[in-house]
Amino acid sequence: MPPMLILGIESSCDETGIALYSTDAGGVLLAHALHSQVLMHQEYGGVVPELASRDHIRRTVPLLRKVMAESGRSLKELDAVAYTRGPGLAGALLVGAAFAEGLASSLGIPTLPVHHLEGHLLSPLLSRRPPRFPFVALLVSGGHSQLMRVTGVGEYRLLGETLDDAAGEAFDKTAKLLGLAYPGGPALAELAELGRPEAVKLPRPMLHSGDLDFSFSGLKTAVLTKVREIGSPDDRQRADIARGFQDAIIEVLVKKSMRAVRESGLKQLVVAGGVGANRELRRQLDARAAKAGISVFYPDLEFCTDNGAMIALAGALRFQAGASLKPPGAFAVWPRWSLSELTA
Ligand code: KG4
Ligand code: ZN
Repeated sequence: MPPMLILGIESSCDETGIALYSTDAGGVLLAHALHSQVLMHQEYGGVVPELASRDHIRRTVPLLRKVMAESGRSLKELDAVAYTRGPGLAGALLVGAAFAEGLASSLGIPTLPVHHLEGHLLSPLLSRRPPRFPFVALLVSGGHSQLMRVTGVGEYRLLGETLDDAAGEAFDKTAKLLGLAYPGGPALAELAELGRPEAVKLPRPMLHSGDLDFSFSGLKTAVLTKVREIGSPDDRQRADIARGFQDAIIEVLVKKSMRAVRESGLKQLVVAGGVGANRELRRQLDARAAKAGISVFYPDLEFCTDNGAMIALAGALRFQAGASLKPPGAFAVWPRWSLSELTA
């Protein structure tokens, strides 16, 4: 198969990501660029979909120019354009999809519509020490918390998932209760480092449920109750609550992930999605996995949260696995789209 030059476009939520990936020499990321809308959404305490869509429109062309300039390649050399078809915010997805299809039409090349979570799942393959199929994946982002068995590209079996809030969502909502700015995940993790272990003991939801599902909304309610009990917590109390919350959620994620790996009989665990950037989660997973003889793989920190590189990669791997290329032109975005619906 001759090498392919694939452009990747991500616009499903509040990050515009563009990347250029070549399948030459086992695959190489040539350039990537990202614009995060975090500061713009911060004053509203969360993502405002209409603002997100409008900002994606503003960012796409400058980011594309940057990526092409950095890579030293020209648009004429592109073989295909991969873009996020879903899941995500409808308007935001439409911007990336329309841009990708328009660009591909003008160049007379095909497109590769990609599942956003497939991008996250495969993102550790971009790192210098990639996992090999099959592996168990813990996918923990702002919108999803799932354990999957990944046998190959497009071969994903759901082992367990959250019944309510996603892990990142629980981090963000708890952070808000503690007065931290959006997105609260990284800020809460930082505050937790100042807190004392066991000072605030919170429940471990579904730890002993006997399955691989999660539930995090009760944990957020427990934090709310704690905050109300105290009235107006001072800095030290807020840090202790943050610590109690983070310890609880991490214990559940670590124990369920280990259980999933054990039950699957596999030896590799891949962690993907924004919460995978959490240092304490990484530390505890590494410690537990080392004892159990399991290897854990993470995407590089910059590819944990949304980015264009994982979309270009997912498009490339899908194509190499035999997925058909789509003629450019008519398209639809799929704001709701389960990973289990994907086929190889
Ligand atoms: O994967 P992602 O960029 O977007 C989605 O597809 O949802 O994940 C974003 C989520 C947010 O909820 C954010 O608060 C969380 O990941 N996050 C973290 C950390 N960094 C990002 N949560 C905990 N600790 C972190 N260090
Ligand atoms: Zn994501």
